[in-house]
Amino acid sequence: MKKYFYKCFQCGNELSASEVESKLIYLCPKCGSTEKNQPLKGVLKIVYDYESIKSKVSKESFIRLAGGKIWEYPYLWPLEYKDFGFTSISPKVLNKLTLAPNNIINIDLEGSQLRLYDDSRNPTLSYKDRASILVALKALQLGTNEISAASTGNAGSSLAGICARLGIKSHIFVPKNIPANKRIQIQSFGANIYVVDGDYDEAFDLCLEVSKKKKWYNRNTAYNPLTIEGKKSSVFDMFIELNGEMPEYIFVPTGDGVIISGIYKGLRELKLLGWIEELPKLVAVQAEGSDALFRYIENQKFEYKAATTIADSISAGAPRNLYMAADAISKTNGSVICVSDKEIIEAQKELSQSHGILSEPAAAASFAGYKKNTAPNSMLMITGNGLKDISSLESWNEAQIIKSYANWEIDLL
Ligand SMILES: Cc1ncc(COP(=O)(O)O)c(C=O)c1O
Repeated sequence: MKKYFYKCFQCGNELSASEVESKLIYLCPKCGSTEKNQPLKGVLKIVYDYESIKSKVSKESFIRLAGGKIWEYPYLWPLEYKDFGFTSISPKVLNKLTLAPNNIINIDLEGSQLRLYDDSRNPTLSYKDRASILVALKALQLGTNEISAASTGNAGSSLAGICARLGIKSHIFVPKNIPANKRIQIQSFGANIYVVDGDYDEAFDLCLEVSKKKKWYNRNTAYNPLTIEGKKSSVFDMFIELNGEMPEYIFVPTGDGVIISGIYKGLRELKLLGWIEELPKLVAVQAEGSDALFRYIENQKFEYKAATTIADSISAGAPRNLYMAADAISKTNGSVICVSDKEIIEAQKELSQSHGILSEPAAAASFAGYKKNTAPNSMLMITGNGLKDISSLESWNEAQIIKSYANWEIDLL
């Protein structure tokens, strides 16, 4: 068997890596489709020769790795390599892409210990860097130096930042209601930004159309299978940091369902390699106003409903990777919890004021979900930094400034 190949999640069609990558195929040519307000069909996943990896690498040697450097285990990535070391990408370039090796923070919650996986300290302050890094490395190997993406904010700022590190041009399509800080972050990294007079769906479709014409490599979430693949790296970093002992539950804020699918992929690979016995249960946390995955699992049917929530990063009326995300929940005996915007903001405030962790609303959703449904031995994914969205922080901070100023005046009397 070749090092890896692509397989359609829906119909099982198998495609060779050379065919997919030379023709820039994204969705399955047999059954793939992108339709307005519908999840993607024919999303591809990557399959490796696990038996061969197993015979060459042991769990003991794997957990001795430093973490935060995906190129240290090239056999689990769809990149060219020779003798377990990359050939075409120099260490100088790779070192620009190092992630924080120790992301786990223990907090004390009502007398018991809880663990947070703080991915808000990545290069551009969100989990999205995990996907952008892999997509950018693939672009370098394909000899492409223009990449595009549609984004509600984080995927775009992440791609823009990672591309700036590597000298690649990025083109980011955003909806007009993007939070100001995320827009500024994208522009500051020197990306070409296209503010689309419409919602994220329209930005997504326009980005695909323009990218095809311009022959830009596309990083639209779930559409490019490497976005799902890249997001598995948190599992390996966590596995290394925990010396091979994984938690029982992982809480994941979920919108399009790509992060949770990537996490499931990483966990399943650990199991296929024989390095863990049980899969942690995946708990997707959704906003009540953006609960498509919850409804899909309840009714076994997708129905489009426009999403509305303060947590813009998990606002998805038609989650692009709905079917794979539902599969991740089912295969791990996991569940979906919905939280209100009020609960999200209360969680954001508690994380900041009691634990010193400033997260954006989508990231605080995993804490809100946990508080609603606690479970032993849990890990909560904190996926984005609070400074990404000032208006949500202002919603509970402005009043405080005015109050303390008034008290100070009274004190002087
Ligand atoms: C901070 C943050 N949390 C959670 C998510 C949800 O990830 P997904 O859309 O893959 O479910 C995103 C995606 O944009 C995000 O930026």
